[in-house]
Order: sequence, then C-alpha cells, then structure tokens
Amino acid sequence: MKKVITYGTFDLLHHGHINVLKKAKQLGDYLIVGLSSDEFNAHKGKAAYHSFEERKMILEAIKYVDEVIPETSWDQKADDITTNHVAVFVMGSDWEGKFDELSDYCEVIYIPRTDGISTSKIKTDLLNKQ
Ligand code: CTP
Repeated sequence: MKKVITYGTFDLLHHGHINVLKKAKQLGDYLIVGLSSDEFNAHKGKAAYHSFEERKMILEAIKYVDEVIPETSWDQKADDITTNHVAVFVMGSDWEGKFDELSDYCEVIYIPRTDGISTSKIKTDLLNKQ
C-alpha cells in the first residue's frame, strides 16, 4: 500500500483544502494528515477557530483522509515518514522548496494552491462584511 502524508492546520475548511487532500490521496492509496496541534499553532503565531479535536473530527469525515496524526513540531516529518512507511510527502505550492530535504526519505511533491481562497481570507472577508 502506497502511503501519502501532508500537513497543515485545516481550520475553517474550504475548497482549497479539499483540492489538496483529493490530489494528495490520488498520489497513493492511503492519506495521512499531520494536523497542527493548538500548541503548535500558537508557536507558529496562528490562532485556529476550531480546536484540534474539532479539526480532527472534520478531517476524519472527509473521504480522502484515512488517518489524522498530531503535528507538534517542525522537525517531526522525517520521523513520521519513516515510522509510517510513507512513500510520498505532499504540500501546497506555498511551501515550494521548503521541504526538499525530505527527499532523502520519500518522494516530495508540491501541489499548486487553489487560487482565491484561504482560511485567513475567509476571516478577513467575514470581518469586512460586518
Ligand atoms: N492550501 C491550498 N490552497 C489554498 C489554501 C491552502 O492548496 N487555497 C493547502 C496548503 O498549501 C496546505 C494545506 O492546504 O498544504 C493546509 O493549509 P492551511 O495553512 O491549513 O490553509 P490556509 O487556508 O492556507 O490557512 P491560512 O490562511 O491560515 O494560512
């Protein structure tokens, strides 16, 4: 079985998230999502609306996602890839080149981002509608 892994916060789920998850799943048979914990988000200076447990529950309901594991640090990826026997590491193209060193462990693929949507944009657009 060919395993694929991707990472992110996936807050206020939107069609850009679904696109990346769908394309990631198409690269193999089993998709693992490393979901940023609330503590790791705080460390990244990101505040998610939904808690880790809520974001995990939402992701697990998506047909492309087979497993959700916590992402708690920047440097766990090589370990996750080895432990889970992952064949492909996938990230959106906003991360292009940032994880090339993981090609020592598996194939590294950057998927083009969906234009015109992000969690930050949803938050800003809603604020501007008040
Ligand atoms: N992503 C994507 N297309 C978008 C938005 C996100 O392909 N329009 C991808 C990212 O490249 C990443 C994954 O979705 O691989 C999770 O990204 P995340 O940071 O959780 O989503 P964003 O909407 O970018 O959130 P934010 O605005 O808070 O950065």
